[in-house]
Amino acid sequence: MATPRPRVVLVTGAAGGIGRACCRLLVLRGAEVVLVDREQTLAAEAAAAVGGQLALAADVTSEADATRVVAQTVAAFGRLDGVVAAAGLYQGTPVDSITAVEWDRIQAVNVRGTFITVQAALRTMIPAGSGSIVTLGSIAGQVGGLQSGAGYATSKAAVIGMTKALARHAGPHGVRVNCVNPGFIDAGMSVGISAEDRERTIAATPLRRAGTAEEVAEAVAWLLSDASSFVTGAHVDVNGGLLMD
Ligand SMILES: NC(=O)c1ccc[n+]([C@@H]2O[C@H](COP(=O)([O-])OP(=O)(O)OC[C@H]3O[C@@H](n4cnc5c(N)ncnc54)[C@H](O)[C@@H]3O)[C@@H](O)[C@H]2O)c1
Repeated sequence: MATPRPRVVLVTGAAGGIGRACCRLLVLRGAEVVLVDREQTLAAEAAAAVGGQLALAADVTSEADATRVVAQTVAAFGRLDGVVAAAGLYQGTPVDSITAVEWDRIQAVNVRGTFITVQAALRTMIPAGSGSIVTLGSIAGQVGGLQSGAGYATSKAAVIGMTKALARHAGPHGVRVNCVNPGFIDAGMSVGISAEDRERTIAATPLRRAGTAEEVAEAVAWLLSDASSFVTGAHVDVNGGLLMD
């Protein structure tokens, strides 16, 4: 039997490496995709590249923006079935030199931004009695960071824990919330990694390569679909075996 597709999916960080790959795959699978990024030009360019239906600017740290993009989605398509919270900031500043300002900015985008996005979506999904939400954690949150700084690792550990809390809250209302933890992915925020770090990470990865944004998108699409209908509060690790737990 064919897997029913999510019909309307909102993706934050849609202009980035992983968000964009998610949008492209979801469009290919027949979803109406709403692309959200921090600037209209970024969202619009990504929408044009992947064939997405609606491009919206929003700062994920703003409650007003989150409420607005959900409302605009429902106004345009009449419903919201899925969310991919992929907006994020990378931070590699060492522990002894990260400032409180930089720390707060990372937590604001990665933790508060993910929460606010999901909270706004749940206000529509819970009354509807269905929906599937995917957050983006990271192997950094599971192992305390590889090349990344403590601020990034902390934020991603928070996303993993937050996903479970949100899944407990939303589950009785028919809404699933799961987390995808990419490992070392050859896209987006990992592109600037040094050659030395890249070689070291690949050598420690049982599959002996970096992953692709498309491989992350496949896991996201599965969690959005009814093929994962009894999965909630879970994390799916797309890391080539770099961490097995
Ligand atoms: N690329 C990797 O190797 C990797 C590994 C593990 C986890 N992740 C996670 O996957 C997600 C996507 O990462 P990516 O590699 O595509 O990164 P990316 O930098 O390519 O994309 C992130 C996107 O988020 C957007 N964004 C940043 N701040 C925002 C804000 N305040 N409001 C709205 N949008 C904002 C950016 O404009 C960008 O388009 C992130 O949460 C990241 O932490 C990535």
